[in-house]
Amino acid sequence: MPDVRTNPDQPAAPVHNEIRRLDYRPPDWLVPQIGLRFTLGDEHTRVQTKLLVARNPAGDQSETLRLNGDEITPAGVWIDGEVTDAWRMDGPDLLIDLPGDRHEIGIETKLNPAANTKLMGLYASNGMLCTQCEAEGFRRITFFPDRPDVLSKYRVHMEGDKALFPVLLSNGNRVASGELEGGRHWAEWEDPFPKPCYLFALVAGDLVANNDRFTTMSGREVELNIYVRDGDVPKTGHAMQALKDSMAWDERVYGREYDLDLFNIVAVSDFNMGAMENKGLNIFNTRYILADAETATDADFDNVAGVVAHEYFHNWSGNRVTCRDWFQLSLKEGFTVFRDQGFSADHGSAAVKRIEDVKMLRAAQFPEDQGPLAHPVRPDSYIEISNFYTATIYNKGAELIRMFHTVLGAEKFRAGTDLYFERHDGEAATCDDFVKALEDASGVDLSAFKVWYSQAGTPKVAARLEQDGERATLHLTQAVAPTPGQPVKQPMPIPLKTALLAADGSGEIVGERLILLDKAEDQVRIEGVNEPAILSINRGFSAPILLDVQRGAGELEQLAANDTDPFARYEAIQEMMLRVLIAGAEGKNVDPEPVVQAVRNTLQSNALDAWFKGEAILPPSEGIIGDRMMDVDPDAIHVARDALRETLGRELEQELADAQAGGAAGIDLSPNGKGARRLRSVALGLIAAGDPARGAALAKAQFDAADNMTDRQGAMTTLVSLDAPERAEALQAFYHRFKDDALVLDKWFGLQAAAQRSDGVEQVKALLEHPDFTLQNPNRFRAVVGSFGVNQWVFHRATGEGYRLMADMIITVDALNPQVAARQVPVLGRWKRFEPKRAALMRAELERILAAPKLSKDTFEQVSKSLA
Ligand code: ARG
Ligand code: ZN
Repeated sequence: MPDVRTNPDQPAAPVHNEIRRLDYRPPDWLVPQIGLRFTLGDEHTRVQTKLLVARNPAGDQSETLRLNGDEITPAGVWIDGEVTDAWRMDGPDLLIDLPGDRHEIGIETKLNPAANTKLMGLYASNGMLCTQCEAEGFRRITFFPDRPDVLSKYRVHMEGDKALFPVLLSNGNRVASGELEGGRHWAEWEDPFPKPCYLFALVAGDLVANNDRFTTMSGREVELNIYVRDGDVPKTGHAMQALKDSMAWDERVYGREYDLDLFNIVAVSDFNMGAMENKGLNIFNTRYILADAETATDADFDNVAGVVAHEYFHNWSGNRVTCRDWFQLSLKEGFTVFRDQGFSADHGSAAVKRIEDVKMLRAAQFPEDQGPLAHPVRPDSYIEISNFYTATIYNKGAELIRMFHTVLGAEKFRAGTDLYFERHDGEAATCDDFVKALEDASGVDLSAFKVWYSQAGTPKVAARLEQDGERATLHLTQAVAPTPGQPVKQPMPIPLKTALLAADGSGEIVGERLILLDKAEDQVRIEGVNEPAILSINRGFSAPILLDVQRGAGELEQLAANDTDPFARYEAIQEMMLRVLIAGAEGKNVDPEPVVQAVRNTLQSNALDAWFKGEAILPPSEGIIGDRMMDVDPDAIHVARDALRETLGRELEQELADAQAGGAAGIDLSPNGKGARRLRSVALGLIAAGDPARGAALAKAQFDAADNMTDRQGAMTTLVSLDAPERAEALQAFYHRFKDDALVLDKWFGLQAAAQRSDGVEQVKALLEHPDFTLQNPNRFRAVVGSFGVNQWVFHRATGEGYRLMADMIITVDALNPQVAARQVPVLGRWKRFEPKRAALMRAELERILAAPKLSKDTFEQVSKSLA
């Protein structure tokens, strides 16, 4: 396989192989059963593995069993009960030659969980032991065919010190337990469902459970536990309610019932990602479990519920039906994100949820599609699979499933998912299998949509409505810009929800219909248009595209005031703002008055709810503005956005003050309560833009009066960017009140790293020196370095100091935790989109990272691809 390293003179650098989708072969050996014995200790854990291996009739009839390993060595190997030395290492892998078709393999490995800073495999966090195996962490525990299409039944025996590890958990059901001498104890767990090793989990620690029950639709009782550190149990109520709601929702909406008698969740404070769907034992980052009004914002509450739902839904979309190989990752992730989005929409404001999801797609996925790391929803190759847990796989993947849902309608879609689950239960499936099930159940040919799996890049659609008397013609074109490895693009099928609205604002002339654009260019005739009409298109964001509509004067204003689709109305207001902002950043002057008027109308509307208003009147972020421009100049964008915010703040002083003062205070988590708080803090930000001194005073008053974290954080968000005495007062008060709560302290760090300040880089440097900062905890690292990286104006300071700081952080943390380091590379990797001086500085930092000794595979892949 090729060495993808571009510079052949690089000495002594490791060769990182590229894995390709088309090289897939069925496994040579299967492992129907595995037994694991853990003798647990913080620094010394012994793992005794017994594998029942069986030659796979569908595989190559190789005598050699290859078991993957990573940073482990075998302390002993047995074949059919006899100790053997008939094994050899091939790099990290263990190879054993086997004469027969079925054997029992014994392997012993020794681990040091406390020294595992990568947080993959078995590691220690805060005195507890836990695992993360997806994607390839199991090979850091024992030798195994670490691939998702090898499914085994697990029996797990664990023993350890009872005082250190009073709770011993693994997947499935606890089948036995007992006491041992010397203050030790043991437990044995069995999971009746065969699973790939990435779904294995083990937890041992001093934990306390919030215990509850759920009765399934067939009347089975399921015990539910959320395990946390002592003292955190009062913060688990929201997660528990979300879990029960998720179980009921999956029964109601997808007909999926839970399948074990026990469902355990454990929260850990050191975790690389959000959470993990291990069978019957989900492991979560504490930030997606712990929440109460004192410490969590409304957004935190929603994220907790959304992630609990996501992991729970994986029990079917991921666990019962898993992935054949990692190229199919979106099969479980895209589908499961689509499912959790539906859950959240049904449990809150569907309109705002759609706005939030599209904002997220635009902030994280569109830049990916435009940059050097662009990849299809089903990639063709990877060096390190951890780098492919991306917004493309998750969020664009979810949009693709949403398009299937839109095209088929809810009923046929459900028939399709029913067939998918029934047909592939207990199997490792592919994205093609999923589409086939939808097609077979619905009778609809979806083959044209497969290009969404294989082709990277965001289609750009241009639309123009031509009206000639009662005849209207919609002219549509589409194009996809080249992406790495895909210079030529095919047209994609693009479902566009479309309506025609009366130009006088009196409502719809032609009601919403679905138009499918599947050619590079097309015209659609629309009949019955007997008055001047305005085009409303891609309503509800029915396709994940960039849209350019040729419009007459006043049309956007009309849509901003009257579009009957809430998303389209939001979009029209945002588009009006973007026109002013982009023109401003290009040094042109565009009258902001229509935007002021649209924001005023929105604030004064009786038909719109507060939550929608808060989202609609918030000007697009500097990053979003930059994504619409070439040769991005972050200073010009910052100046333009500040100018618009200032205008809005000044001109709408009274309306904003009313919005900031209005609505219920307190901790009511209804859409109305959340909406009032959202609007309050958005209004506060605009008021401060118009009059910083007044804004600071109001923000401090909001901070002092707050009885919930949403209002408190909203006030801080405004204060951190101001130069007023209130800023330091609030920061200090916040710190002293919450310094012992890690998740809240993350907010304190994150808010400051996200502040819009000319001394932003110095502020971030100071945060990195703060005694409470640590590189070891991913949440803390992301709070500072992650927030800084997306703080466009600050990170892209013209001197390049931001880039240098980021590269230093990437190099430093790469030695500890490659996954966390590699996640930060894309903000530098987008160098080609920036004006030439910054582009050169960014590129130089990427080259410096690439030259660093012992760079991980993770960071190597992201940096080398970014320089290609
Ligand atoms: N499958 C997990 C989820 O629910 C993500 C785990 C990814 N972990 C990793 N180390 N890449 O989204
Ligand atoms: Zn997932």
